[in-house]
Amino acid sequence: MKNIAIFASGTGSNARAIAQYFDGSENVEVALVVSNVATAKVLDMNAEMGIATYVIPSKEAYLQGDDLLDVLDFYEIDLIVLAGFLWLIPPYLVAKYKIVNIHPALLPSYGGKGMYGMRVHQAVIDNKETQSGITIHWVNEEYDKGAIIHQATVAVEPTDTAATLAQKIHTLEHLHYPQQLEKLLLG
Ligand code: GRF
Repeated sequence: MKNIAIFASGTGSNARAIAQYFDGSENVEVALVVSNVATAKVLDMNAEMGIATYVIPSKEAYLQGDDLLDVLDFYEIDLIVLAGFLWLIPPYLVAKYKIVNIHPALLPSYGGKGMYGMRVHQAVIDNKETQSGITIHWVNEEYDKGAIIHQATVAVEPTDTAATLAQKIHTLEHLHYPQQLEKLLLG
């Protein structure tokens, strides 16, 4: 069994799509959800699906790392999956774990610090791009700079707004992210 830990700061629609995809799998399990936000909706996955959750108590604790490393050890995590996790990944995690992220645009464009959520989609609309998409990539110590694993595109229509584009991108993410994780874990 390969164990995934999903790190998320918000709603967790990708986290849920991943957990549902692997629900009942004999090979892959979402063993843990980690959040830095105690009120994040993603933590409801504990009540909804019985998945263990861990809230990082503070930025200091996160940067220092011992408790988080103990928790990841306890659940025998093989892969860390970022799904809307807004803190930079510290060196001790990059050194110890394989970590994957999904970005809601076609990197290397529209990435980097501060480029998340609706800001990304608004920038794509403002620049009158005719296509956008998703990027699944390895995580290193810089925002959105790790090697690209997979990209998928979607057309941006002249009538699209940041909100409609966000919906299209979410649909694409939910389709591609679980499948790509399965490939990475099982080959
Ligand atoms: C996704 O759009 C993902 O690309 C980005 O953060 C968003 C998280 O959305 N990294 P959700 O919480 O999974 O709905």
